[in-house]
Amino acid sequence: MAQLWGGRFTKETDKLVYNFNASISFDQKFFGQDIDGSIAHVIMLAKQGILTKEEKDSILKGLAGIRRDVEEGRLKITDEYEDIHSFVEANLIERIGNDGKKLHTGRSRNDQVALDMRLYVRLEVLQVDELVKELLCTLLKIMEDNTDTYMPGFTHLQKAQPVTLAHHIGAYFEMFKRDRSRLKDIYHRMNYCPLGAGALAGTTYPLDRNYTASLLGFEGPTLNSMDSVSDRDYVIEFLSALSTVMMHLSRFCEEIIIWNSDEYRFVEIDDAYSTGSSIMPQKKNPDIAELIRGKTGRVYGALTAILTTMKGIPLAYNKDMQEDKELTFDAIDTVKGCLALFEGMVRTMKFNRETMKQSAMKGFTNATDAADYLVAHGVPFRDAHSVIGRLVLYCIDRHCSIEDLSIQELKEISPVFEEDIYDAVSLQTCVEKRLTLGAPGPAVMQEVIGAHREYLSKSWQDENKISIPGQTAEQNKYI
Ligand code: ARG
Repeated sequence: MAQLWGGRFTKETDKLVYNFNASISFDQKFFGQDIDGSIAHVIMLAKQGILTKEEKDSILKGLAGIRRDVEEGRLKITDEYEDIHSFVEANLIERIGNDGKKLHTGRSRNDQVALDMRLYVRLEVLQVDELVKELLCTLLKIMEDNTDTYMPGFTHLQKAQPVTLAHHIGAYFEMFKRDRSRLKDIYHRMNYCPLGAGALAGTTYPLDRNYTASLLGFEGPTLNSMDSVSDRDYVIEFLSALSTVMMHLSRFCEEIIIWNSDEYRFVEIDDAYSTGSSIMPQKKNPDIAELIRGKTGRVYGALTAILTTMKGIPLAYNKDMQEDKELTFDAIDTVKGCLALFEGMVRTMKFNRETMKQSAMKGFTNATDAADYLVAHGVPFRDAHSVIGRLVLYCIDRHCSIEDLSIQELKEISPVFEEDIYDAVSLQTCVEKRLTLGAPGPAVMQEVIGAHREYLSKSWQDENKISIPGQTAEQNKYI
């Protein structure tokens, strides 16, 4: 049991207590961030004359050695340490002796863990954003290839009006685009450095918090030390954005599962993304789509858990906050895995264009257009609605579509109908004439696709000159 404290204790920690309290099994995930933070802290301490140049160089060399040895498998992170901070500090002291004991000058584990978590989450915000961007590129390609792929649009899962596949996919494009904009907002709001807040009340050492913040690529230091060590808003915001990403993926998965069913056959999921049944040889199941839909609950769970954990915590740091990590890490890994798999599944999915078109031609998806035809010939809309309602009932009795009726039959229902009704209610007309901005008409859809292309040609990460992992040249000198 290697602990950073113990001076005021007269008894060994109970083993069960030690295990219950320890976080090394999961906080080793931000080992790299812990080293990055320590490097920046030490460079700043030396600049301020709190450490000598020799002490700084010796500590930086020691930290670089620990990083290398862990990365190359020579040094194992084990549960004999309480947390990742103790692991690094104990190993540093073992390696370089007394200089290592100065690493923690002017720092507490409270601001240290606040920094590590922030650095970790900040990097993940960028990586999730990249994955969503890759998915958007795949969706745009499907849209470009399918501006004239007709399919029924649904409300209440009942056929409503005809749309195109490009239009349907375009709805998801908007959702994932909003997800990226949320990630960008979160990145900027969270990008302030808590290091230097100490345990809760800052420190009497003359730290240069602006300098530490700039070394770590932050927009600046946080401005209240009590808030700095007890703020996990950015974790909650990120989990909320991730939950929304999952909600979008889940809705899309639900549609793919329906479309992939024998009743619809709109799509066929590639063999590489399907699974079989142990008993029914004919089965090809959409397990990946179902699992993504299922894992949504797990990400919502993380959000709910952390919101609940945080709601009763008085200022400033309390140990409850250690609970922010496992569920957040799990949610991040889950969302990243789902995004990558989902992208592959839709990229390789086959769209059965003819089946979609045939489906759009049934179910009276052109009934609104038939009513609009009457309106164009002077019939008030409410009367037209009622006439077409009767027309649909007539067709249902005869198991046919509006366009299957002869002009005599149509005229019996309304004398306003002329030969041009057939063209007016054809699938092609119904789609091509829908030209309001945001509608499926191919001409207007091309405009939207052009805007999407332009949007994907630039990235907010490039515009803000954000680089992963966000280390500065000054730090890299020592790594
Ligand atoms: N493992 C702790 C956490 O995750 C690190 C901070 C410990 N601070 C303390 N005062 N015990 O929150």
